[in-house]
Amino acid sequence: MSGRVLHREVAVLPAGNEFEYAAAEVIAAAVTSAIDDRGACLMALSGGRTPQGAYRRTADFLAARRVDLRRLHLVFVDERMVPPGDADSNYGMIRDAFISRVSIPADNVHRIRGEAEAGVAERAYEAELDDLFAKFDGRCDLIVLGVGEDGHTASLFPGTDALDEHEHKVRTVSVPSLDSRRVTLTLPVINRAREILFLVTGRRKTDIVEKIFTGDPSTVDLPATRVHPDSGTLTWMLDTDAASGLPDGSTDQERPAVN
Ligand code: 6PG
Repeated sequence: MSGRVLHREVAVLPAGNEFEYAAAEVIAAAVTSAIDDRGACLMALSGGRTPQGAYRRTADFLAARRVDLRRLHLVFVDERMVPPGDADSNYGMIRDAFISRVSIPADNVHRIRGEAEAGVAERAYEAELDDLFAKFDGRCDLIVLGVGEDGHTASLFPGTDALDEHEHKVRTVSVPSLDSRRVTLTLPVINRAREILFLVTGRRKTDIVEKIFTGDPSTVDLPATRVHPDSGTLTWMLDTDAASGLPDGSTDQERPAVN
């Protein structure tokens, strides 16, 4: 363990509308400021159930504010090996919640081919990202992440060797607990982001949030705790249910980080 200090902001909000609006404000602000400051935005979105409402509201904010989304490039944090029409497709969820509600050019949407064989999808996505990241100084402007009850984030699951990837942006992961394979961004890409936003809601996440925030840093080695941007910002947005196991003061902005 390096013992370096992780700077992070933690926001706890009431579940539902208030949480979704606050998350959408953060996402829309990151997109707008990247476009204003650097002329374009590279944003990576996670799948799962948690962010759907926030994505819909983000789309509505960006449309209402007439943000020029020809300057937005959208990439995907991870994907399950299913076609876009499948209920498990992260692309399908993000298309319905976000892409279909805004005017983003189709060429700016860089999806992972869930319908392909995982190795083929992985190599195609890595090649596409190599070209794209070259135009963005090698960094995403914003990455939105979630957390699973086992502490996984993206499709980086506890105990999988993709966690130790240093070279590649993209890896295929076999997830024994789900008996499936997924394609995911790796920690080096995630930790190079300018801004990382975790969205975590619901009672199902109370225990893992408690472990992440109050566990002994030398013993808690969960994928989500390995997210600490090299030179970006890290925000955890929790709803009151997810945060309900936290003792007062445990969401202070600094704590030692592992590895
Ligand atoms: C995925 C994700 C994954 C997700 C967490 C939380 O494809 O499942 O990218 O990392 O963010 O599993 O999922 P929920 O939001 O559904 O709880």
